[in-house]
Amino acid sequence: MKLQAVYPGTFDPVTNGHVDLIRRSAALFDRVIVAILENTDKTPLFTIEERVEMLEGALKGLKNVAVTTFAGLLVGFAEQVGAAVIVRGIRAVSDYEYELQMALMNRRLSSRVETVFMMPAEAYSYLSSRLVKEISLLGGSVRGLVPPLVERRLRKKYSLAPIKRAPPVSP
Ligand code: PNS
Repeated sequence: MKLQAVYPGTFDPVTNGHVDLIRRSAALFDRVIVAILENTDKTPLFTIEERVEMLEGALKGLKNVAVTTFAGLLVGFAEQVGAAVIVRGIRAVSDYEYELQMALMNRRLSSRVETVFMMPAEAYSYLSSRLVKEISLLGGSVRGLVPPLVERRLRKKYSLAPIKRAPPVSP
């Protein structure tokens, strides 16, 4: 039996923490469907099309990973695509309460879908899309925190000039 997992989220924008978790999931499951929620209460910075494009760009080469969008209940989507697992990332204890609530509610909604919590690499344990946007808005560098394509898109969104490399310091 092929084991499929859904990795859902807002991905506004995708960070290297998300990519790390998707790579780990892709090594565990036969197929991973990265599913971007279409209509959230949040007002996203990037359109759904832009988020799909950035995720596809960041995940190029991962053969058992697909990117798509969904609307409505997550468990309904998981059942529809034949996924028995929902993957969610837990960075710190602070994530746990909200994630536990969601996982238990999803279990109540569907007994056919199980939530699996995974941890990203330590280096990404303090990383979030929200912080990445805030740093970019204020002109800071997010290099190494998001895929290069996302870094460029953020700079464009906030109409910032490309980062100039500092001239070498002469001894
Ligand atoms: O990246 P996020 O914003 O933490 O992702 C949240 C997401 C998309 C996983 C969650 O909002 C969700 O599953 N929404 C779909 C609607 C739904 O199923 N709601 C009931 C959850 S118990």
